[in-house]
Amino acid sequence: MRRAIVALAMAGVALAPAGARAASREGEKRILSVLEEMRKGGRTYLSVPPEDGRALRLLAEAAAAKTVVEIGTSTGYSGLWFCLALQDTGGRLITFEIDPGRAAAARKNFQQAGVESLVTVVEGDAHEKLATVKAPVDVAFIDADKEGYVDYLRKLLPLLRPGGLLLAHNVGMAGVTEYLKEAEANPDLETIVYREGAGLAVTLKKR
Ligand SMILES: C[S@@+](CC[C@H](N)C(=O)[O-])C[C@H]1O[C@@H](n2cnc3c(N)ncnc32)[C@H](O)[C@@H]1O
Repeated sequence: MRRAIVALAMAGVALAPAGARAASREGEKRILSVLEEMRKGGRTYLSVPPEDGRALRLLAEAAAAKTVVEIGTSTGYSGLWFCLALQDTGGRLITFEIDPGRAAAARKNFQQAGVESLVTVVEGDAHEKLATVKAPVDVAFIDADKEGYVDYLRKLLPLLRPGGLLLAHNVGMAGVTEYLKEAEANPDLETIVYREGAGLAVTLKKR
């Protein structure tokens, strides 16, 4: 094991110190247990399936995201998947929710998972409140009013850094189809669809 670590270090692979890795694994366990409790205890509302949650975490971590913006917090389930990445990337989540009851539930869930310092829950209509977000955004996730997706696309694109990712949930639903058409017609973007869960469009803003 020690030899493998030395070999990786010599190859220039940066490893977090053992203490930081242990803390990260503890944090991961705590977040995963809250996710499980939420799912089993019916504390989610229209939330992403775990397959999509894992994709959100993986993409945010691969993008070394410092700023993730989420439209549609609900009770914080997908936000917690992002936090699994953000606790390691040193990033933060800004998440928008129009329903005060769900925003309050999300805040409680973020607290229970010990990630409240990583997350800002913004209450109100994201179509208006997005104006408060400053560039650069590394990853943006749209999972709210489907008829609003095209407006979110147009508002988020200028905030997204080159090489950043725009994620849109529920491909196939009305509204999301319009979004996909607009994203696919834009030569500055490259889009694929991940279909293990409920259909996630993954769009790269080319450099
Ligand atoms: C599908 S749920 C989000 C699920 C969440 N991403 C998850 O996986 O746990 C959609 C949420 O978007 C919120 N929403 C709808 N329109 C909105 C708007 N204009 N601004 C902010 N939030 C909105 C709804 O109240 C609802 O809680």
